[in-house]
Amino acid sequence: MSVTISLTVNGKAVTTQVDTRTLLVQLIREQLQLTGTHVGCDTAQCGSCTVHLNGRAVKACSMLAIQAQGGDVRTIEGLAQDGQLHPMQAAFRQCHGLQCGFCTPGMVMSAVALLADNPQASEQEIREGLDGNFCRCTGYHNIVKSIQLCQSGKVGAPA
Ligand code: FES
Ligand code: FES
Repeated sequence: MSVTISLTVNGKAVTTQVDTRTLLVQLIREQLQLTGTHVGCDTAQCGSCTVHLNGRAVKACSMLAIQAQGGDVRTIEGLAQDGQLHPMQAAFRQCHGLQCGFCTPGMVMSAVALLADNPQASEQEIREGLDGNFCRCTGYHNIVKSIQLCQSGKVGAPA
């Protein structure tokens, strides 16, 4: 069955038809062509599909698009503002918090939500906060450093 839903995606109003079985990540990637949101497992394990819904990090592979009706969705494409990387994106670049980059959009979205919830998060809390996001490349150390750099407010400052 097809239904019409309305939501906001990266600040833009979207009204579209979806099948009631359509996943939020399918709406984002296939209908809206926002392919920065990745699908790694489709079973709510890896976190590569993480986006924000009403300011909270959610796994878009484990939600129906209709559950986002009326909501405010932000994807990795919506983080940069006025041509400037979000400080978390800049911190990942500065600390080389990525290798292949597959996990990176989900990791960055989770990291932004993590610090929004807990701006003073300790290293341990950062590591625990990322337990829903898998990275097969980095060993996580530079990801944690990236988040700590963003947390310090010193992104781009001389070392
Ligand atoms: S694709 Fe959603 S958690 Fe892996
Ligand atoms: S950078 Fe390759 S999976 Fe994380």
